[in-house]
Amino acid sequence: MKRQTCKAVLGPYAALWAVAAVVVSAAAGCATEQKSVVAKPETLLDTRCAECHALSRVTGVKKDRAGWEATVERMVRNGARLSEEEKAVLVDYLASKYGP
Ligand code: HEC
Repeated sequence: MKRQTCKAVLGPYAALWAVAAVVVSAAAGCATEQKSVVAKPETLLDTRCAECHALSRVTGVKKDRAGWEATVERMVRNGARLSEEEKAVLVDYLASKYGP
């Protein structure tokens, strides 16, 4: 038999999992198979964007999405440590929270 799907594995316990939905997210092994887990944007901002300058340098300005994309790209060239996925998550967050 081929590899079982996540659904097949969880099937018999579906009701239990539904009740324990919070636990499921902690045991999200199925999701992590396809995609690495990206930290929350708030965490990325706190940890990756305050290494060189105060966080207020980021939170004190407003930019549209294109502006944040360009800024985050520039910060990566400056030396910020962000993967492609992390950049996308962070730009979404910045554009919605610190938009014009
Ligand atoms: C490796 C050091 C470094 C890290 C990490 C870093 N920055 Fe910067 N940042 C700089 C430097 C240097 C400047 C001033 C020169 C410039 O603007 O490129 C700056 C300036 C800024 C400015 C003010 C200029 C502008 O375009 O409005 C913003 C906003 C900013 N950074 C956002 C961020 C964000 C968001 C992150 C996290 C993704 C981040 N920075 C991480 C080095 C860094």
